[in-house]
Amino acid sequence: MSKSLRDRLLGLGTTPDRALPAGELGAPGEAGDAVALVGTDPLAGLTIATPFVRGPVAARAESAVDRLKRELHSKLVERLDLSALDALRADGKLEQQIRAAVLEFLRTEQAPLSAAERDEVIDEITWEVTGLGPIEPLTRDLSISDILVNGPHAVYVERGGQLELTDITFRDNAHLLAVIDRIVSRVGRRVDESSPMVDARLPDGSRVNAVIPPLALDGPVLSIRRFGATLGPADLVSNGAMTAEMLRFLAACVVSRLNILISGGTGSGKTTLLNALSAFIPDNERIVTIEDAAELRLQQQHVVRLETRPPNMEGRGEVLARDLVKNALRMRPDRIIIGEVRSAESLDMLQAMNTGHEGSLTTVHANTPRDALARLETMVLFAGTALPVRAVREQVAAALHLVVQVSRGSDGRRRVTSIAEVTTMEGDMVSMQEIFRFRRRGVSEDGTVQGSFEATGVRPQFAEAITTRGIALPADLFVIR
Ligand SMILES: Nc1ncnc2c1ncn2[C@@H]1O[C@H](COP(=O)(O)OP(=O)(O)OP(=O)(O)O)[C@@H](O)[C@H]1O
Ligand SMILES: [Mg+2]
Repeated sequence: MSKSLRDRLLGLGTTPDRALPAGELGAPGEAGDAVALVGTDPLAGLTIATPFVRGPVAARAESAVDRLKRELHSKLVERLDLSALDALRADGKLEQQIRAAVLEFLRTEQAPLSAAERDEVIDEITWEVTGLGPIEPLTRDLSISDILVNGPHAVYVERGGQLELTDITFRDNAHLLAVIDRIVSRVGRRVDESSPMVDARLPDGSRVNAVIPPLALDGPVLSIRRFGATLGPADLVSNGAMTAEMLRFLAACVVSRLNILISGGTGSGKTTLLNALSAFIPDNERIVTIEDAAELRLQQQHVVRLETRPPNMEGRGEVLARDLVKNALRMRPDRIIIGEVRSAESLDMLQAMNTGHEGSLTTVHANTPRDALARLETMVLFAGTALPVRAVREQVAAALHLVVQVSRGSDGRRRVTSIAEVTTMEGDMVSMQEIFRFRRRGVSEDGTVQGSFEATGVRPQFAEAITTRGIALPADLFVIR
């Protein structure tokens, strides 16, 4: 019997169109992959079969188990009350219901599955109905930092800094789109042809971005970035982002309610450091956090988390960070933490800091402490304040105590490269003095940046304020070694 080469590569014609008898059922995808390229085949001996069949462009043949799952899924969707699913899931009853439905289905279809295969089907259907479908198990694997889906047939993960292609696939564009839709609709957003790009987040705080056709040319693209909140203060010392002395100093500043601005470029570790420093906020304080996409993981009990909202389809309902800052002030906060200042909220934040809401923490996108102040100033001026530049600078100087600069070196390592105190105005300029810095000495042969952290010998003006709070700083903390 001769089949076309294409059919054989795709495994077409090798999957019987009926439920398979016991013993013939393979793992999902196996039927499509198990095409033997031997005998008269001109491509015999070439090892292209598997990559080709699994590649991003090749359509995959549906295995018997896949088909069973798809039928089972649509039957389940008919039977289950979808609106009650989340409640059922919270009660832990969902799996029970699905199990019962699967067992009944398998009985009526007379589909013979082993107990292990049955459990697998039950898991997959549960993920399919309420979770993230085929990528659900990836979200539970803590060694994975990013999940990148480039169309239905190419799912990559980043593990330990390396990208790997997985053998997980979605059935087709529609399947992937359904998962994207579920993620974004959970947070009140939507994705369709008229709004083909969307940001959202998963319940665990991971950031999600989806772009669908026509903007994405090869099918829907889903990027899940799970970084942000995994490194604690001690980790930052042990992985060389700063010294124990620097951490001790920063911790004392946080406890002493100084206003701290963390500055850095894209992906330099701003959010990670903000999160780590927040660990030093005493437990008895009421903290309000304001973010565009909730990434912070505060460990304290008394935390109110607020998140901005983009406009809806009709262009209405947008809630800006500045609206949330204003509202936060009415919530009797002890501390306000703004994930990142990007625009007009900077003005409200400065005003809050200057009217007794001390101990605030935020981040800004800038490459040096001096740039960070300039960025802040520009944002405040753009916020439409009638204040002259000098008055804005006075506000900045009065509000901020400390700028902490983080940078990603050419070796990929993140470091706290400068800790600078904001002192007063000198003439028309805000003056600053560096307390700690990373002195770069060069790059070794393997590309590692060489250098060391050092105190500059300057004792900050607020050191007094820290010690009067009863926090002891080592006598030689600021001494050049
Ligand atoms: N000190 C560190 N050591 C190792 N990895 C780090 C360190 N700080 C941050 N990272 C990692 O770097 C990545 C980016 O960190 P983070 O999100 O904190 O940066 P960011 O400056 O806030 O980025 P963005 O510009 O996207 O807001 C994450 O994967 C994080 O885990
Ligand atoms: Mg960030």
